[in-house]
Amino acid sequence: MRLQISSVQNLANINRFLIFTNLIQTNLTTKIFGHEIEYFTFTDSTNEDVWDALADDIDEGFLVITDHQKNGRGRRGNRWLSEPGSSLTFSFLIKPKLPLEKIGLLSLLTGVAVVEGISQFAQLDCKLKWPNDIILNNKKVGGILAESKLIDNEIYVVMGVGLNVNEQELPPEISPFSSTLRCEKESPIQREPLLAFILNAFESMYNNKDSEWINAWNSHCIHLNSDVKFHHGNDTIQGTFLEIDNMGQASLNINGSVQKFSSGIIELS
Ligand code: BTN
Repeated sequence: MRLQISSVQNLANINRFLIFTNLIQTNLTTKIFGHEIEYFTFTDSTNEDVWDALADDIDEGFLVITDHQKNGRGRRGNRWLSEPGSSLTFSFLIKPKLPLEKIGLLSLLTGVAVVEGISQFAQLDCKLKWPNDIILNNKKVGGILAESKLIDNEIYVVMGVGLNVNEQELPPEISPFSSTLRCEKESPIQREPLLAFILNAFESMYNNKDSEWINAWNSHCIHLNSDVKFHHGNDTIQGTFLEIDNMGQASLNINGSVQKFSSGIIELS
């Protein structure tokens, strides 16, 4: 279920919690990403909305944003909780020109763009926890869900980003290990230009070589060369996180031998 109000958005004072798409677009320096935006006051999942919009032959860069995501999808089948009017919840379409085996790098690139966009707009020093948790002062403030489909021999990726921005309190089930940009900065942050800065950072790196995405990701990693617990299947392994390799795999030194993983959960020591 979703509600669209694009035609009345320019009326002043509808509700100070609504997203104003023109405020996103005036801050964009991109050529592709964010030029076409669909805004819903509420919806179930912006990832799902982008998939639905594919039926209308949308272009790369098409973006869906909502003020109130009611049924947000998280990684590993989890739910993503967000607060109406405070969180940033959006998804955009990528039609990548990458070989299939490198598609996973796009979510790492998005993590880099989120960290750099936040740094440039809000002067907050976020870090990345593999594969793409957004961390601030050791707490999770955001996450990324990339979904891909092969349709008529073409790869489509929907990149979904959830960021805790202006919430002043989080649900008790996530508050011990999560935070919000506002809580850490101790002042509110305008969501529209923040989103534009994230898209600007994404597009400028998207046009670079993927080896540069990897270097940028490693430079923002919170656990580079640190001892971590690594949960893989039913195993918990202790090791030193070395880097991500050119396929985005986690490279760990475990008892003197280098092992690579394409999935797993890092627990910071
Ligand atoms: C995670 O579990 O860390 C990733 C969460 C990603 C949530 C975002 S919010 C916008 C987009 N729509 C969804 O349903 N999920 C993603």
